[in-house]
Amino acid sequence: MNIGLIGSGGREHALCKKIFESKLVNKIFCFPGNAGTSQIAINVEVDILNFKKVLKFIKFFKIDLVIVGPEEPLVNGVVDYLKKNKIKVFGPNKYASKLEGSKAFMKMICAKNNIPTAKFKVCKKVEEVKNFLNICKLPIVVKADGLAAGKGVTICKTAKQVIKKTSEIFNGKFKSSKKVVLEEFLVGEEASYFVIVDNKSFKFFGTAQDHKRVYEKDKGPNTGGMGAYSPAPIVSKKVEKKIISKIVRPTLKALRKEKNPYNGFLYVGLMINNNEPYLIEYNIRMGDPECQVILPRLKTDIVRIFKNAISNKLKNTQIKWEKRKSMTIVLCAKGYPGSYKKNLQIDNVNKIKLLKTDYIYHAGTKLIMNKLRSNGGRILNITSIGDNFFIIRKKIINIIKKLNLKNIFYRKDIGWKVINKNENY
Ligand code: AMP
Ligand code: GLY
Repeated sequence: MNIGLIGSGGREHALCKKIFESKLVNKIFCFPGNAGTSQIAINVEVDILNFKKVLKFIKFFKIDLVIVGPEEPLVNGVVDYLKKNKIKVFGPNKYASKLEGSKAFMKMICAKNNIPTAKFKVCKKVEEVKNFLNICKLPIVVKADGLAAGKGVTICKTAKQVIKKTSEIFNGKFKSSKKVVLEEFLVGEEASYFVIVDNKSFKFFGTAQDHKRVYEKDKGPNTGGMGAYSPAPIVSKKVEKKIISKIVRPTLKALRKEKNPYNGFLYVGLMINNNEPYLIEYNIRMGDPECQVILPRLKTDIVRIFKNAISNKLKNTQIKWEKRKSMTIVLCAKGYPGSYKKNLQIDNVNKIKLLKTDYIYHAGTKLIMNKLRSNGGRILNITSIGDNFFIIRKKIINIIKKLNLKNIFYRKDIGWKVINKNENY
């Protein structure tokens, strides 16, 4: 089979490597990919939101199955467009993609189906915001309704800040929507739970914990993710049962009832407090960098899983997982998530020898005149698997030191919560 993979981050390099391992694959085409994917696939330079052009390439290269990595093309309806043109594609349609594309839509599904989540109000006017301020204690979480590239959420400690942030959104700060979702602030520990879904059933696809803040001890502004580990020990069997029965099943049932069954990866973002899971957000894709810790643990041929998912045969598909743990540390350009330099030299990456348990995934990288250069804020993800998070982290940091890259930084404390709790993790 020829596979088409849409996206260009660390998540897509991890997907590409896993697809490359499949016995069912002939060629892989990445739209547009990065310097890492170009080593094992053919990169096709194209605007992934220009569906017409993407379709032209899919037909030209005789691609049998398309996998969509990031949320933006999904929310814009790439799956509907490709299916209408008789292309096989793995991912949710435009309607189901509203689970991530509209926080108001996601919250309404929760409200209608008794799914545990933070108390909320969808607001279009300042008066509505003031009413919510009267009934909900601070802090209050202000969220832009539509996609906001990770910049749409603010935890506000004062009423004044709530008014300021909501006014900015009403005035069109985020082009995707002028609606605001206000939420009560939830306490607990965050974790991500993943499933792969077809029209009839779903299967577990790993757990992970991400580190969104830029500095150690979870300080500083939010980023796309500075590192992750898998599995997430906080998701015990008991908690998992509740996630499935109280959150995943009612959501999938609701979408089926609305004649838009969910297909694809579903990322369930949770706050867990006293063994009770609350839904914070849905993402309609794999996480980045969560994908880079989950896929190294997958033992089953991923292309067979995708094939079975698009033909609604997941129920009888066995998905096997490596028992060992994994961690990834994200290497960023100095200044990220603010302004940072591009074209940093990262040539050393090609010189380093890796063990079978270690992986270097490219994120913001490109080849300029055959030289490896940075092309984004998050540049590389160094992943390793093993039996103990503390030792895995040491191994990763050793690899990073060997890389000896200039003008980059990373968090040395990935996994701190779990490592501090119990050294045997
Ligand atoms: P979201 O884009 O909805 O995932 O929000 C981004 C981050 O904001 C989450 O990963 C949480 O750390 C935090 N957050 C969002 N909603 C809440 C909430 N209701 N209570 C506490 N923290 C939240
Ligand atoms: N790591 C967070 C995300 O993928 O949304």
